[in-house]
Amino acid sequence: MTNYQAPVITVTNNKGGCGKTTTIVNLAAEFGRIGCKVLVIDLDPQGNASTHLGKINTNNYTENNIVSLLCSKETKNNVSKINECIYAITDGRFDNVFFVPASRDLDIVASKTISIHSNRPMEELKSRIEPMRDIYDVILIDCPPSMTSILTGNALGCATHFITPIDTTSDYSRSGWIDLMNYIIDKTSDINPGLVYLGSLLTRHSELTNIQKAIAFSINDFENKLGVNPNNEEKLIPFYIHSSTKVGEASVSSLPIKKHDRKNKIAKDYENLANFIKNKLLIRTTAEK
Ligand SMILES: Nc1ncnc2c1ncn2[C@@H]1O[C@H](COP(=O)(O)OP(=O)(O)O)[C@@H](O)[C@H]1O
Ligand SMILES: [Mg+2]
Repeated sequence: MTNYQAPVITVTNNKGGCGKTTTIVNLAAEFGRIGCKVLVIDLDPQGNASTHLGKINTNNYTENNIVSLLCSKETKNNVSKINECIYAITDGRFDNVFFVPASRDLDIVASKTISIHSNRPMEELKSRIEPMRDIYDVILIDCPPSMTSILTGNALGCATHFITPIDTTSDYSRSGWIDLMNYIIDKTSDINPGLVYLGSLLTRHSELTNIQKAIAFSINDFENKLGVNPNNEEKLIPFYIHSSTKVGEASVSSLPIKKHDRKNKIAKDYENLANFIKNKLLIRTTAEK
C-alpha cells in the first residue's frame, strides 16, 4: 500500500526503572520478528537501549549518534544524513531492527544547542523523524526518566502515540504517572495536539497482591476521568507485563526476552502487546506495504 506512514510510538515516564527500555527493546524485537522494519531512537543519555540493541557502551559511538542527529543542521529533513546516524543489527540477535544510539553528553549538548539555536526547541526531532516514516514500518522512541527534559519534549513533539509504563510494585509510580499525564496533556496541546494516548502499561504486575490491584484500579479510574477510556468499556492496553528475573538476564545478554527464554511469560506478554498495537494502529509489515 502506498502512502503508508509509520506510527511513531514514544514510551515515557518520569520515573526510572519502570520498564521503558525493556518495553522498547522487546516491542522492537517483536515487530521485527513479524516482518516490520523497525527504527529505535534512544533519547536517554544513559543509553540502555543502545547497549541492549547494539551490544555497546554508548561512549563507543563518538561520531554518529543521537547528538549528531539532533544537533547538526544538515540532518534536518535530509534522509541520507539521517541514515548516517542509524545502525543496523547484523548479528542475528534482532531481526529488522535499526537504531540511533544515545550519547552520554546528549542531555548537556542537546539541551544547550537546541535551547540556544532553535526557535522551535520541541520540534527538532520531528524534522529528523518525519522523512523516516516512509522508510520504516514503525518507529519507537525511548525516553530519559524526566518529564520536563527537552529530550522528552522532543519525543512527545514528534510522536503519533505514547505509552506510559507503570511498575505496580512501587506505589510512587502512581503519583508520578498522574503528574506525567497532566504535564503531557498540557504541553502537547500546543506542540502536538494530535498525539494519541495508547494507554498505561502495568509492568512487573501481579493480580495477586492487594497493593498492585489497588494501583491498577486507580490508574484505570484516572484514565476514565481523563475521558480517554469512556465507560471503561475498552481497556486502553488490555494486557500487563508479569515479573521475571529472566528480563534482567536477557538484557545482560543483549537479547530479546524471546531469544533468551522462548517460553517465558514475559515473551508472551510482549508478543501480545505488539500484536495489540499492530492491529490497533494498522501497522504494516514490509511485505504488506
Ligand atoms: N517485567 C519485568 N520483570 C522483572 N524485571 C524487570 C521487568 N521489566 C524491567 N525489569 C528490570 O527492571 C530494571 C529497569 O527496567 P528498564 O526497562 O531499564 O526501566 P527504565 O527504562 O524505565 O529505567 C532493569 O533491571 C530490568 O531488567
Ligand atoms: Mg531506560
